[in-house]
This record gives sequence, structure tokens and C-alpha cells, in this order.
Amino acid sequence: MVSSEASLHYVRQDSIETTKNKKTLKVVDKQTGQELTLELHNNTIRAVDLAKLGVTLYDPGFLNTASCISRITYIDGDKGILRYRGYPIEELAEKSTFMEVSFLLLYGELPTSRELEHFSHRVLRHTFLKQSLVDIIKATPKDAHPMGLLVSMLAAEGTLYPDANPAINGDDVYSSPRAREKQILRLLGTMPTLAAFIYRHKMGRPFNYPAYGGSRSYTENFMYMLDSMEDPSYRPNATLVKALDTLFVLHADHELNCSTAAVRHLTSSGVDVFTAFSGAAGALYGPLHGGANEAVLRMLEKIGSVDKVPAFIEAVKNRKARLMGFGHRVYKSYDPRARIVRKLAYQVFEICGRDPLIEIATKLEEHALKDNYFIERKLYPNVDFYSGLIYKAMGFPTDFFTILFAIGRTPGWLAHWLEYLDDPDKKIARPRQNYLGSGERSYIPITQRNSSVKYSTDYVSPAEKRRVNGFAVAKM
Ligand code: CMC
Repeated sequence: MVSSEASLHYVRQDSIETTKNKKTLKVVDKQTGQELTLELHNNTIRAVDLAKLGVTLYDPGFLNTASCISRITYIDGDKGILRYRGYPIEELAEKSTFMEVSFLLLYGELPTSRELEHFSHRVLRHTFLKQSLVDIIKATPKDAHPMGLLVSMLAAEGTLYPDANPAINGDDVYSSPRAREKQILRLLGTMPTLAAFIYRHKMGRPFNYPAYGGSRSYTENFMYMLDSMEDPSYRPNATLVKALDTLFVLHADHELNCSTAAVRHLTSSGVDVFTAFSGAAGALYGPLHGGANEAVLRMLEKIGSVDKVPAFIEAVKNRKARLMGFGHRVYKSYDPRARIVRKLAYQVFEICGRDPLIEIATKLEEHALKDNYFIERKLYPNVDFYSGLIYKAMGFPTDFFTILFAIGRTPGWLAHWLEYLDDPDKKIARPRQNYLGSGERSYIPITQRNSSVKYSTDYVSPAEKRRVNGFAVAKM
């Protein structure tokens, strides 16, 4: 057994590399004739250099703007390549585990067996929730959306660790490796417990505390907390544990997706890491991001049968519907994760039974992949297209799917948090705007104003009608 007192240190990032063959880009302002030579590093110019011409970049949704230099995850969207720290996702999904991949993302290298044992042991030692957090979960409505609860619980968890709060202890709280490591262990450790307690609360069952001390892996421990019926010796099905662990590996990082960008954005303000994670979980909740797995399932259920697929595809093309689980900002070919998830789905079906919605999903994919609307726009299935079917086959409630994604994404959020803290270029995230509003005007006294705004005052709720009438009667 490894001593719980020993500590691991993350691999320090190198300073920014500069390319040997300097490339430049010449920009000419045709109105003034002013010329600017911009240095290109890794095909990137520094946007602030353009400010010398008085030019601002307008890039809603960050279609072509890099907000950081990163060394964690590489994606080539045209070729369908995804690598964590250089290792192809296909190899990691087949040979690795979620704990090993978490270590890789956080510290830059695959762990030795001693490091892995030490790291997993330390994470599992941090799985207990503080009692006040358990009490808050108990006080929440049972039908609340699990992601809404996760957003709240992460923010609440932050209030329980004043030692880790820059607002209380100063902005150098995270300067020591020990303090960083502690937050990593707390967040990686408690995320599955939060999810499991939210699930058990929803099901109206007593909580199962983490089974620390046994030989259970991280993912097995999570499934134990979900499903054990007061039986400490309960062991979940090993193939299902492996399938869920692989799904966590596939979701572990995806460079600057909406939620990871949110972690960096919030961290830039100096806020504590739990609040930054709460914001990230909020971003993940959205149906265009992590919430897509839930949205796919609801879409498949709404379509209802294979014969309705052509009509649904037509509705998508006529912009009356969106094909959830299709399309990606970065991948313009098949998402490599989707291919692995599809295979995994059939392995899970062998144990839990084939979900009939798979027929609708396969038919949708078949139709979309040969339809010009999707071909021209390079829309392919993404990771969320099939993952919901696995979760459903495994018996998870539909509104629980995204929280599973959140567990998987935790090491990625943490790796970006660490990288941000050490970034020599870091600055508070504060985009510019392109202002097109009114010029200066003088204040108009209220008696001289003519209303021209669209401000709806005519909606009165049924309850309001009752109240207004009650009030009227009382006044009579
Ligand atoms: N169904 C129908 N049309 C689509 C879809 C879709 N799922 N995705 C994109 N398009 C169309 C879009 O209407 C647009 O057409 P046009 O140029 O004629 O207006 C074109 O394709 C480009 O789309 P976009 O919205 O500009 O692309 P984006 O990079 O801004 O959005 C996306 C990416 C993932 C938000 C979008 O593809 C989408 O909404 N997909 C469905 C939701 C989904 O599955 N999200 C999970 C993403 S993967 C997991 C994760 O990262 O969380």
C-alpha cells in the first residue's frame, strides 16, 4: 500500500516554443497604405498585433480564434484524429483505463504502475462528501434535473473548502503544488459520489457511501454507489464497468470545447476551482454540448419508428428540426469517438438487451450519410449520437446521461485548469465587442417619451387574473 502522505507533482510545462523558420504575414491597410508584418507561430498570429492598425477581430463563437497555447489534446478535425498527450484515442480506449488517462492528461505522461496505484489510491481516498453537501442534496426536489443539481452542488462544495478559495486566502492559493493536487483529488474523487447521490436521491433510495478500502476501481466504485442494495459485497458486472470506464476515457478531454473554455474563462477571474467547475458543468448541460446525449434519446423517442426516419430527415433539411448527435465544430469527418461508442453499444446490448431505438439511430445515420444536405455541410455522427443508447440500455434515466459525461470530462477540465495556472500569457478573459448601438443622446424626461420598444405588457397568467380579481373585489 502506498503512503497517503506522499504527494505527486505534475509535470512542469515547458516555456512556449518558437518555430525555427520564422514565417510572417503581411497585412496592408489599403485606405492608409499602412503595412504590418505579423509573425506567424504554428500558423497563428497574435490578435493584439493587429491593434496597431486599429483593427479588431470579430469572431462570434470563436470559429477561428485560439485563446491559449495548449499541450494537452490534439484534434485534426478533417482527418478524424484525436490524441491525448500524443496518444491516439483508439489505443487509449482499447488498452487504458480512466484513472490512467486522468493521470496522463493531468501530468503529461502515462503513469508507471507505482504511480498509478498511488494516484488511484489517493483519488479513492477523496470520494466522501462533506455531510453538509449530503444534507443539501437531501433537501433538493427529487425531480430536479441532475445537471441542474450538479451545477449547484459544485458551487456549494466550493463553499466547504475556504482553504482553497482565493477570495478568502488570496490569489496565490494555488501557487503550491500541494494545494493544486488537493483540489484535483477532491474534484476527481467527489464527482462520481455527487452523481451517485443525486441518482439515489432521485430514486428515493438511501445513499451508498463510497466503498473505500476494497479492490474496486474508480468506475466500479461509482457503480457500487449507484446500485448496491445495502450489500457491501456487491460487485457490478465487469463488462459494464469496463464499458462505462471506456466511455469516461472517450469523454476525458476535447481541448477547448464550450465547458473547458468556461473553466479557463472563469479561472481567469481568479475564482476558486469549484465555482469554475460549476460554470463548466453549466456549459456542459446545454443540448448543443454535453446535453446532446439526452437530446438524442428524446429525439429518437419522438421519431418513434424506422419508417418515420425519412420524414424526420426532411424536417431537418427544412430547418424544422435538428439532428441531435450530428455535426461538430471541429470534426468535419467521422468523430473517432463515435466509431468506438457504436462498437461499445453492441457489447453492452449483449448483456443488457438490444435497445430498439438503435434501429432508428442506424437508419438516421444511413440516410444522413448519403444525403447532400449533410454531405455538403460535413455533418457526421458525434460522440453523443450512440452514447445515450448505451446509457439507456444500462438502465440510466435519460436526464442522468449528461452527468455521466461530466464525470468523464473532469480530468480534462482539471488539466486545463492546471495548464492555465502556469500559462505565462494568461490574462483575465475579457472579449472586445463591435459596438453598433446609439451614439450619445440626452436624457428625455418621462412625460416627453414616445414608446417605440417592443415591450409586451398584455400577458396575464391565470393566477394573476385570480389575484387581480380578488384584489378588485376586496377594494369594492
Ligand atoms: N442538424 C442539422 N443541421 C446542422 C446540424 C445538425 N445537427 N449541425 C450543423 N448543422 C448545419 C447548420 O444548420 C449550418 O447550416 P447552414 O450553413 O445552412 O446554416 C451548418 O450545418 C453549420 O452548422 P453550425 O451550426 O454553423 O456549426 P457549428 O460548428 O457552429 O455547430 C454543433 C456545431 C455541434 C453545435 C452543431 O453541429 C449542432 O448543433 N449539433 C447538434 C448538437 C450536438 O450533437 N452536439 C454535440 C456536439 S459533440 C459533443 C460535445 O462536444 O459536447
